[in-house]
Amino acid sequence: MEPVDLAVTALHPSVDDPALNSMNFLNEVAQHYPDAVSLAAGRPYEEFFDSAVLHRHLDTFRRHLADDLGLSREQVDRTLLQYGRTKGIVHDLIARHLAVDEQLTVDPEAIVVTVGCQEAMFLVLRALRAGPRDVLLAVAPTYVGLTGAARLVDLPVHPVTGGPDGIDLADLRDQVHRARAEGLRPRACYVMPDFANPSGVSMDLAHRRRLLDLAAEEDLLLLEDNPYGLFPAAGAERLPTLKALDTRRRVVYLGSFAKTVLPGARVGYVVADQRVAGSDGTVGPLADQLAKIKSMVTVNTSPISQAVIGGALLAHDCSLVAANTRERAAYARNQRHLADGLARLFPAGGPVRWNVPAGGFFVVVTVPFRVDDALLHRSAREYGVLWTPMAHFYDAGTPVNALRLSVSAVTPHQIDLGLDRLAALITDELATVGAPA
Ligand SMILES: Cc1ncc(COP(=O)(O)O)c(C=O)c1O
Repeated sequence: MEPVDLAVTALHPSVDDPALNSMNFLNEVAQHYPDAVSLAAGRPYEEFFDSAVLHRHLDTFRRHLADDLGLSREQVDRTLLQYGRTKGIVHDLIARHLAVDEQLTVDPEAIVVTVGCQEAMFLVLRALRAGPRDVLLAVAPTYVGLTGAARLVDLPVHPVTGGPDGIDLADLRDQVHRARAEGLRPRACYVMPDFANPSGVSMDLAHRRRLLDLAAEEDLLLLEDNPYGLFPAAGAERLPTLKALDTRRRVVYLGSFAKTVLPGARVGYVVADQRVAGSDGTVGPLADQLAKIKSMVTVNTSPISQAVIGGALLAHDCSLVAANTRERAAYARNQRHLADGLARLFPAGGPVRWNVPAGGFFVVVTVPFRVDDALLHRSAREYGVLWTPMAHFYDAGTPVNALRLSVSAVTPHQIDLGLDRLAALITDELATVGAPA
């Protein structure tokens, strides 16, 4: 055994938590089997990537600073090259994007531009975790980045049944009451109303309204995470976000440009317009408190990255719906292709079931046997196909009979190849457990 200087048990408990290892584990499996077809990665489609746009976007944003905002050459350079405003420099453009694409009116001062949506989640959870009685409710299955961020700030996550409506409201109410009966303080409930990761499920309009009513009745905040909302399936309608329906400042809205512009910029944001009374008697948006935390985590989001995002927004009059025409069509095509392939390989009424989401990147396949990391390894090694065990999106140790497929980073040909290989794996597993194929 190698000499050791520190035991992991002497570090913050989160570093030894399965949630923090999940993304690394899945990346390592993918690296280990580079020839396997990956229906695992939730990355955006790369065919439209073009690094030449970086210069164009930077230039567009520079011209915006000079021509629209009247900044001098020195001020433009300082804005892009110097340390900058903690809450960010593209907040006005983000507010315009939300108005254009989401019919959502927000005060730009209630926006904090963050290093990806991931930092936004961390800032919000850090702020909400005020003491040891605080807990977070989160729809299950849930995005592992949320669970991991909660671990970092010692905020226990209580799962709420997701189900076909996106969240089971009776269970949400029960969980709130149960937590309070135990002397705990549920601070918020995390939800993904549009094409959730990993379930693919969306909430209909009536359900969104009922969720907002319940949040008001139970005095609960909702954390709405919406990275996939701009990608409805062909013919599917886009519904208003919770934040657009929120008249009582119950919703903290988490945004990401990873899927709608480019993930390499690492830019996201949070809209936090809840009024906070400071100890000095002043009242301001929660965003101001989040900015204090941010100033001690990443200081400010790279202005160069923000400029690239800002330029991309300006290039399309702040409409990311307009900017993503090709991408939306590619994801919708892939979703349809995957659904057709699944129907071909696994006939209705059989032991293998899957859902047909109204958009987004993900589909869940349910099988009559346990799906775990060992099976993923075998799938990669012996069958040449990668997917994500759904167990990664539940509490560690929960037995789960399902896997997540992603259509975002593959071609229809790769979907066919991957599905044929997955079908071979599933057929062999069914034979092992004795289920009819
Ligand atoms: C539901 C959800 N939230 C947040 C993120 C992270 O976004 P970002 O890359 O902006 O940090 C992802 C990324 O896959 C996601 O699926």
